Amino acid sequence: MIDEYHDYITRVSQPHMAISLEAAQFLHLWCQVYKPQRIVDLGSGFSSYVFRHYQQKSKNRVTVVSVDDNQEWLKRTKNFLQQHYLSTEHLILYDKFLAKPKQFDLWFYDLGSISTRIKEMPKILQWSRDAFLIMDDAHKKRMRKSINMLNMRRIHALTRTTDSIGRFAALVYPE
Ligand SMILES: C[S@@+](CC[C@H](N)C(=O)[O-])C[C@H]1O[C@@H](n2cnc3c(N)ncnc32)[C@H](O)[C@@H]1O
Repeated sequence: MIDEYHDYITRVSQPHMAISLEAAQFLHLWCQVYKPQRIVDLGSGFSSYVFRHYQQKSKNRVTVVSVDDNQEWLKRTKNFLQQHYLSTEHLILYDKFLAKPKQFDLWFYDLGSISTRIKEMPKILQWSRDAFLIMDDAHKKRMRKSINMLNMRRIHALTRTTDSIGRFAALVYPE
């Protein structure tokens, strides 16, 4: 995965916009341990590679839906997945995702800007209430506050995902 990550952050995106390598490796490990069969990847990019790589290697039938609020980034994700011979099924815009059924075992939340994520947080918490939710950029106080203010969930920092610039992801779980 290290070579593919390097390829992604040098040729397609930038290190501070893609998930960290630490987070990518953690998500991959999480999938291998918990074996989610329905994954939603909100905020396409290298995370889409991670989940679709797991999907390709899995013995079970795994569905991955990758969502973005930006058509251009969805296209770039699609190209990257094609270049790595991974599935490009279910790459959709957030507006379309709103109208779809939302039964997933794992939610990964890294969509658009931080402001967008905070605005959409009540919906995400509601939809993911019976599933695992991992949100990136939990080092940002605004992200943690948006969950605490809704008073529905607790946050557990996933310290293994901490990268060289102090970013980390968190598991969000019911009280
Ligand atoms: C934090 S990024 C999502 C990263 C993605 N989960 C990944 O692993 O690469 C949040 C949003 O920024 C946009 N984006 C991704 N890469 C970008 C870049 N290099 N520059 C500007 N916007 C970018 C996409 O629309 C994406 O939904």
